[in-house]
Amino acid sequence: MPLNLAAFIGVVLFAIVGAEDPYRRWNWNVTYGFIYPLGIRQQGILINGQFPGPDIYSVTNDNLIINVFNSLDEPFLISWNGIQNRRNSFEDGVYGTTCPIPPGRNFTYILQVKDQIGSFYYYPSLAFHKAAGGFGGIRILSRPLIPVPFPDPADDYTVLIGDWYTSNHTDLKALLDRGKKLHFPDGILINGRGPNGTSFTVDQGKTYRLRVSNVGLQNSLNFRVQGHKLKLVEVEGTHTLQISYSSFDIHVGQSYSFLLTADQPAQNYLIVVSSRFTTPILTTTGVLRYNNGGGSFSNLPTGGPTIQVDWSLNQARSIRTNLTASGPRPNPQGSYHYGMINTTRTIRLANSAGLINGKQRYAVNSVSFVAADTPLKLADYFQIGGVFRVGSISDAPTGGGMYLDTSVMNADYRAFIEIVFENPENIMQSWHLNGYQFWVVGMDGGQWTQASRNEYNLRDAVARSTIQVYPKSWTAIYIALDNVGMWNLRTEFWARQYLGQQFYLRVYTKSTSIRDEYPIPKNALLCGRASGRHTRPL
Ligand SMILES: *[C@@H]1O[C@H](CO)[C@@H](O)[C@H](O)[C@H]1NC(C)=O
Ligand SMILES: *[C@@H]1O[C@H](CO)[C@@H](O)[C@H](O)[C@H]1NC(C)=O
Ligand SMILES: *[C@@H]1O[C@H](CO)[C@@H](O)[C@H](O)[C@H]1NC(C)=O
Ligand SMILES: *[C@@H]1O[C@H](CO)[C@@H](O)[C@H](O)[C@H]1NC(C)=O
Ligand SMILES: *[C@@H]1O[C@H](CO)[C@@H](O)[C@H](O)[C@H]1NC(C)=O
Ligand SMILES: *[C@@H]1O[C@H](CO)[C@@H](O)[C@H](O)[C@H]1NC(C)=O
Repeated sequence: MPLNLAAFIGVVLFAIVGAEDPYRRWNWNVTYGFIYPLGIRQQGILINGQFPGPDIYSVTNDNLIINVFNSLDEPFLISWNGIQNRRNSFEDGVYGTTCPIPPGRNFTYILQVKDQIGSFYYYPSLAFHKAAGGFGGIRILSRPLIPVPFPDPADDYTVLIGDWYTSNHTDLKALLDRGKKLHFPDGILINGRGPNGTSFTVDQGKTYRLRVSNVGLQNSLNFRVQGHKLKLVEVEGTHTLQISYSSFDIHVGQSYSFLLTADQPAQNYLIVVSSRFTTPILTTTGVLRYNNGGGSFSNLPTGGPTIQVDWSLNQARSIRTNLTASGPRPNPQGSYHYGMINTTRTIRLANSAGLINGKQRYAVNSVSFVAADTPLKLADYFQIGGVFRVGSISDAPTGGGMYLDTSVMNADYRAFIEIVFENPENIMQSWHLNGYQFWVVGMDGGQWTQASRNEYNLRDAVARSTIQVYPKSWTAIYIALDNVGMWNLRTEFWARQYLGQQFYLRVYTKSTSIRDEYPIPKNALLCGRASGRHTRPL
């Protein structure tokens, strides 16, 4: 961690965000602790002694006050996958926006889940900590009077799935720092446990919501429950057309909600999670346990997808918005006609891999991101020159060789833009943009061309924050840039993220009105060249 830490701690909190909306408070103590998810002792990152960390329960527009004590021996930050932090990228908890919490210190995040519903997760963003835990589920329920397009489930479970290494995060990070690639993962965890370690209990005849997130480091995972259908109802904050699937692909970084009806004879059924497009295939199981089912296991087939990419691509294309259902607001999700708005800019982003100075690196449009000595948002806020250059990454693949830079792309507040993710590599790619939900208007194999726009879904594409790109394929999204700030755009393939496949999108306005962006929080930690600056009095 290159930051020279000198922290300033403000005392008065809670000044700005939606004072009329309810507050929920958490105190989190982040510690190391031994965990044994695959039967081998390793050092994990615990939150209040738990691995995975506790769920965050909230309701649309709540203010979440989360005081995080860093009891590790390294700087630490938590970030919020899918939480938009509207007007407030200072709270985003990634390297480019927020100073790391020094060992033995604390920082209180003040988030508002403004105009959001749905299923998300938090994770530790620095130093490959994610390989050690420190993640947990976030759910945002609809406000009481806003209709939800399905009956209340009998219960609602967080299901965090992900590939896992038995090496600790310091060893994995050291490998990457030496310019090596990581070996194949050692297994898959469901809620922090290995084979048959997790079970969910259900009553026959009742329906349950499963909020499934792939919090792993790299692999797309197929999720299925022996003998049961998964009815998709929500994707990263959008209520979808309710379609039933017998198994579902969840790419790294993504979150989905399914309804599962316990409509089978009362016994035990396996929950199966297996890696996609890998050799060998990693598989793990959990247990769906019927009350009064006894101990016997079903002998129904456990199913599974084909190995073809097309199966997955077709499934992805079947995910669509229910235009008549409400999202976070009472009006239907379809009342925003994204397909009628003209885009004013097209950004094409291509991933690449290669060596720089003999070490493995990964890039976007040839730039492999390196951290500066000061969080970019703070440099911007305090107008500290020489930290980053706007325009240090181009709007289209350059075809040139890879190089290192602190890449920041400028974009105009309120512009409506198109981004095309182009994946010329033979890997599964997954991209996430902080601060936003975007419409996934198209994806297909081969090279994107202007003619590809003819196949865009301009009617009921799903709005979400993490999207896959299949090998040698493209995915196109539309975004309304209505959230001012410095926003991380990154691969969720974690070794690639760590080795430079990310940049910051600086959504900029000249306005200094708090209607457009909040000032720096009074309790903000200050570091690097922002050390000793004073946060603006309110
Ligand atoms: C965090 O947990 C550690 C280990 O249990 C303990 O020593 C420390 O006092 C705790 N810190 C806080 C702020 O609760
Ligand atoms: C990580 O594992 C290595 C052995 O591979 C061990 O030497 C080291 O102490 C461990 N580090 C931590 C922080 O647990
Ligand atoms: C650290 O925690 C204390 C309460 O224990 C709180 O008063 C203080 O504001 C927190 N510091 C920051 C920077 O949030
Ligand atoms: C999990 O349980 C099932 C059903 O009893 C069993 O077939 C399977 O072998 C178990 N898996 C492991 C790794 O123990
Ligand atoms: C769409 O949402 C409406 C609620 O407005 C619901 O009645 C309907 O069943 C949903 N349709 C599908 C296909 O999910
Ligand atoms: C979008 O562009 C088309 C063609 O340039 C134009 O006819 C149309 O009026 C524009 N629509 C909007 C909403 O600006």
